[in-house]
Amino acid sequence: MSNPSILILPGDGIGPEVMTEVRKVIGWFGDKRGLAFDISEDLVGGAAYDKHGTPLHDDTMAKAQEVDAVLLGAVGGPKYDELDFSVKPERGLLRLRKEMDLFANLRPAQCFDALADFSSLKKDIVAGLDIMIVRELTSGVYFGEPRGIFKEGNERVGINTQRYTESEIARVARASFELAKRRGNKVCSMEKANVMESGILWRDVVNEIHQAEYPEVELSHMYADNGAMQLVRAPKQFDVILTDNLFGDVLSDCAAMLTGSLGMLPSASLGAPMANGRPKALYEPVHGSAPDITGQSKANPIACILSFAMALRYSFDSGDEATRLETAVEQVLADGVRTADLMQAGDASPVTTSQMGDAIVTALEASL
Ligand code: IPM
Ligand code: MG
Repeated sequence: MSNPSILILPGDGIGPEVMTEVRKVIGWFGDKRGLAFDISEDLVGGAAYDKHGTPLHDDTMAKAQEVDAVLLGAVGGPKYDELDFSVKPERGLLRLRKEMDLFANLRPAQCFDALADFSSLKKDIVAGLDIMIVRELTSGVYFGEPRGIFKEGNERVGINTQRYTESEIARVARASFELAKRRGNKVCSMEKANVMESGILWRDVVNEIHQAEYPEVELSHMYADNGAMQLVRAPKQFDVILTDNLFGDVLSDCAAMLTGSLGMLPSASLGAPMANGRPKALYEPVHGSAPDITGQSKANPIACILSFAMALRYSFDSGDEATRLETAVEQVLADGVRTADLMQAGDASPVTTSQMGDAIVTALEASL
């Protein structure tokens, strides 16, 4: 049998820098744990635009559809700010999500003990935090039609459409209940059923799926604005948060910052199972391309490395190895190894991107 395949798309900015460290980690699992992968690499975002005039070449799209998992670094940068909307780096990422039909975006927000002081919130509010946001990723206002900027009389009007079908809501609701069963067994669904019809339908369908298929999971509902407030007030009340594409975008950034550093958080975007039983999948850090620190060896590779841990868990049936990697990261942080984004007054000097990668490999080695 051939090895499982991974397509690496480093992208722009710090993407390639952090991906170099992920490759070290992947190499270690190949050498030491017998987890060999067939790896290919290609361009996405501004890097693809520079070469092909499009942020995602059709050949790359086709490859992404065939592999067992895609690992993406980051897209975008100031160099591309003036580009036409249709070829902006972000469009490459959105096309991957849409065409691979990656409807369930898993964004864990976990607070590492060693970093609890980094949160902008008081330590006791975030210490031990472990929540999972499940964001619908392929529909809603990101993709709804009609959309555009139109002329209405003598002024322009910008239009986007929030649109959800029952089946789109049902499948992501199932994904969140399934996850909850393996965690704290609680789902809180967030929408604006008080002002939006799509929110009313969202709440109805989530209730229906719950009653019919997951009555044993505890379900609650919140308006998304209240949800944002509760996330900041008392985040540990949540286990799994289920929400739509746009609210999920906002709430996940908010949840990410609770943990102290955006440089720490991974994500998985999952679709329907393929013929081999694995879900279509794309893994990427939550952070962006960080143009302000690109090329300075300052980037924190942990979010991207933890994204690979999610790949081990959700694509490659290697939950134990995922835990091994997560524990290695925790160990390195507990040992005080810090990239520049994790420095506080009085800390020794920061390590480089590459030194952080090496430290994690050393901790993996020690785990044997
Ligand atoms: C995210 C990002 C993307 C989004 C951008 C880069 C298109 O903010 O993944 O959260 O809005 O979904
Ligand atoms: Mg976002």
